[in-house]
This record gives sequence, C-alpha cells and structure tokens, in this order.
Amino acid sequence: MPAGDLYTVTPIRGATKTENSGSRSKQKEYLLIQVKNTWNCVESGQEIPTTWKEDQVIVSPAKIGETLTESGVSWTVKTPIYFCYKVIEIQNLLDPNNMTLLYGHVSDPQEVEVYQKKIQKRFVVMDTNVEKLYGSKVRKYFEANDVTFKILALETTEETKSMELVLTILEEIHKFGIDRRTEPVIAIGGGVCLDIVGLAASLYRRRTPYIRVPTTLLSYVDASVGAKNGVNFCNCKNKLGSYTPPAATFLDRSFIKTIPRRQISNGLGEILKMALMKHKGLFELLESHGKYLLDTKFQSRNGLASHGDAALTATRLAIQTMLEELAPNLWEDDLERLVDYGHVISPELEMKVLPALMHGEAVNIDMAFMTYVSFESGLLASEEKTRTIQCMRTLELPVWHKECTLPLIKRALGERFKHSGGKLRLPLPTGLGTAEIFNDVNEETMKRAFEKWTEDCQELST
Ligand SMILES: NC(=O)c1ccc[n+]([C@@H]2O[C@H](COP(=O)([O-])OP(=O)(O)OC[C@H]3O[C@@H](n4cnc5c(N)ncnc54)[C@H](O)[C@@H]3O)[C@@H](O)[C@H]2O)c1
Ligand SMILES: [Zn+2]
Repeated sequence: MPAGDLYTVTPIRGATKTENSGSRSKQKEYLLIQVKNTWNCVESGQEIPTTWKEDQVIVSPAKIGETLTESGVSWTVKTPIYFCYKVIEIQNLLDPNNMTLLYGHVSDPQEVEVYQKKIQKRFVVMDTNVEKLYGSKVRKYFEANDVTFKILALETTEETKSMELVLTILEEIHKFGIDRRTEPVIAIGGGVCLDIVGLAASLYRRRTPYIRVPTTLLSYVDASVGAKNGVNFCNCKNKLGSYTPPAATFLDRSFIKTIPRRQISNGLGEILKMALMKHKGLFELLESHGKYLLDTKFQSRNGLASHGDAALTATRLAIQTMLEELAPNLWEDDLERLVDYGHVISPELEMKVLPALMHGEAVNIDMAFMTYVSFESGLLASEEKTRTIQCMRTLELPVWHKECTLPLIKRALGERFKHSGGKLRLPLPTGLGTAEIFNDVNEETMKRAFEKWTEDCQELST
C-alpha cells in the first residue's frame, strides 16, 4: 500500500449495516484492528486512518456487532477460538537422550533453545500401577536432564475418577509451582488418569498446558487423540469436564506391553468402532490379525513378514480416522457424530455394573446390539452382521450382557433424545466400514433387534 493512501477494510461475509426504521434499531459491525498495542474498532467497510501503516496493524479474526435499540445498546462478540495440538508417534520416549517429553510440544526450535538455558520444572501425574512399572525410568529421565520435578502417583480408577482427585492434583500443582506458559503438566497413564489431569490442567489458572502420555491401548488410540477430558459426577459418566486439548500427546507403543490381555481387548473395542464406521480395510485387518495383535500386545515384531506391521497399521488407521472426525468438530457442536457409535447405551450400562465392565467392553456390547438394530432396519446384510459379531469374538470382547436389558436400552435412548436436540441421531453401520446417522428407528425394530440379539448372543457371553 503506498504511504498516504486511504485503504478500506472489505466487509466480510455476513457483515451487516442496516437501519431499520420500523423497529428503530440500528446495527453495525466492527472489525478489530491493533495499532501499537491498542485495539481499535473500525466499522466494516470504513476507511482506515492513513497514519496507520499496513505493516504495523494486526486485524483480529474477532468482530463486534452493535445494535442500537430504544432501550440501549446490545453488543455481540464473535471470536473464533483456535487450537493447535500435536499427536506424535515416538519410540523410546523415556530415553534420557530423547528430548520429546520435555520439548516435543514446542514448534519453534528457537524457543526450545531459550528453554534449555534455564532449569526446567515439570509436574508429573502417574497412575500408581504405571508408576510402579515406569516410575524409576521417569525419575532417571528427569534427573539426567537436570529437571526439577515432582511425580504425584495416584490411584486413578473409574471409581476414583472424581472432582476430589482433580482438587488433590490442583493443590499439589499449586504447592509445587510451575510457570503456566512454559512448564506443561504431564499425565502418564490410562484414559482415567489422562482425563482427570486434563480437567485439572484446564482449571488451573483457567488453562495450563498439559501433555498426555497414554499407557493403555484404549488411551493410545482414543482418549489421547481428542480435546475432551472429564470426571464422573453424581454417578453419571464424565458429567463434569471440558474441551481442552493437550499441548501434545506422545504415543509410545512400548508401554502397552505390560497391560493385561483383557485390556488389549478393551482398546480393540475402540479400534473396531472406527473400523465399523469408516474403514473396511481396518476391519479386515482386525478380522485377520486380531488374535495376533492380542498375542503380541501391539508390539512390532520384525521378521514376521506374513503379519506386516499390523500393530502400527491398526493404531495409525484408528487414530487417523478418529482425527478426521474430531478435528472439524472439536467442540462437538455438530451432534451427528459417527464416533458416538457404541457410546449411546454403554455409558448407562458401564456405570450400572461398575467395575464389572471396562469402557471398551461396554462400548462393544452397545455396538453388538446396534449391529442387530442395523440388520433389522435392513441396513446390514446377514453375512455382514455375522462377520461383525465374529470379529468381536476374535478380539475377545463381550457381545452381550445380562444387565443390558430392554428398559435400560430405552432409558439410554431417551437420554440420547433429550441431549441431542430432540432427535435420536443414531450412528448405524450401513455395511462393513460405512455408516450414517439415523433418527427414525422405531420401537418395534428395537424390540425385534433386542430379541434376536439375545437369542444369538446370550450364550456367547460366558
Ligand atoms: N477423553 C476422551 O476422549 C476419552 C475417550 C475414550 C475413553 N476415555 C476414558 O478413558 C477411560 C478408560 O481408559 P483405560 O481403558 O485406559 O482405563 P484406565 O485408565 O482405568 O487403565 C486401566 C488399568 O490399566 C492400568 N495400567 C495403565 N497403563 C498400564 C501399563 N502400561 N501397564 C500395566 N497396567 C497399566 C491402570 O492402572 C488401570 O488399572 C474411561 O474413563 C473413559 O471415559 C476418554
Ligand atoms: Zn469411548
């Protein structure tokens, strides 16, 4: 722009400037422009003072709308919130020479250099079982890198996933003291630990960055990938929580080798969810390699050419398909979510029988029932239904539960209806690896599906 010229701010789409003499209200929209540290309102389409040099101004994506009525002014603030977080596959995360745990969340290498010049502090929360297995390695890592640290080991279980534990963490963070801009809180554990720490970090000083290090398969492919955190409240699953993504998630598959076989199945439940909704290739991989993945606990085995790297492919596809669905809908404003598959009835069931079913197991029981709903609705062929249930069995997941009764299902669907804007919004498979959202599944179909499901799957549940 030549100096001294006038330049104008182009009205953006949806900008309005109307005078409505009928209702005697006057509307304007302002852009926000910063010049030398001060923000200024400039009416959309107006000329900008020539004294403001283009290279000195910052135009915010935020806007302020103003409506003048007889009773006064009403302002409307529109401000997009931008999140950027990383999900990084990494090997040997706890090798003292690997700087990922300390600086992997920082994008700018120059920033890292600045941090490295001062003593770093890190507050780490670990699940007690994980601490027993990996605590000494974590200590050695920080000691070798001259980091001042505190490890808080907590029993993070579905029963203790509560606000009390969040407050315990907050008190300890407060006592320890961290620089909330440069010293992220680190959570190392399963989905419960990551969810509790995520909520604590989102509350501390209104939002403190945090790092997720998942140590179970379920948290590796699911709880680590999105923005949500939360705790149980009033016997309801994840009733309190927030949408606050971590600064970064570091995915080191080697943690998974110490989890029991049942927990591998548990995680496979969430991988299967993504396969059934979005990816036939992933479904076929689980069909053919499910047992192998259980036997090898998702550790890559070189030299077994017939299996390729099934663990890497399965986890990567699960995460990729999950991110595709989450990234455009991080705040879950769109209620039509395929990733809700298996999560319609399961919250009610999981809480009812706690601690008998793990999260992924409850999700699978929900998916098994919905497979029958889909079949009875004419969306799924008989062979596809059989293959789905068979694959669940290969993954050693429960396909039926006696507490998953028709009244419980109806209650859960009622809740769904209430919280989904008066629509059912039920994700249902329409084939292997394809799905759509349906609102019109009638009660008769549900009842028929329940009866057939019970008939076929009840005896498979033992
Ligand atoms: N935020 C989200 O988007 C999201 C998504 C999915 C699930 N979740 C939540 O995740 C939770 C379930 O997570 P989970 O299945 O990881 O359960 P979990 O966190 O309870 O962990 C399961 C068990 O494994 C142990 N453990 C963890 N890592 C281990 C390791 N490497 N070796 C040996 N033992 C280990 C733990 O001590 C625990 O006993 C649920 O509360 C669910 O609501 C959250
Ligand atoms: Zn889940």
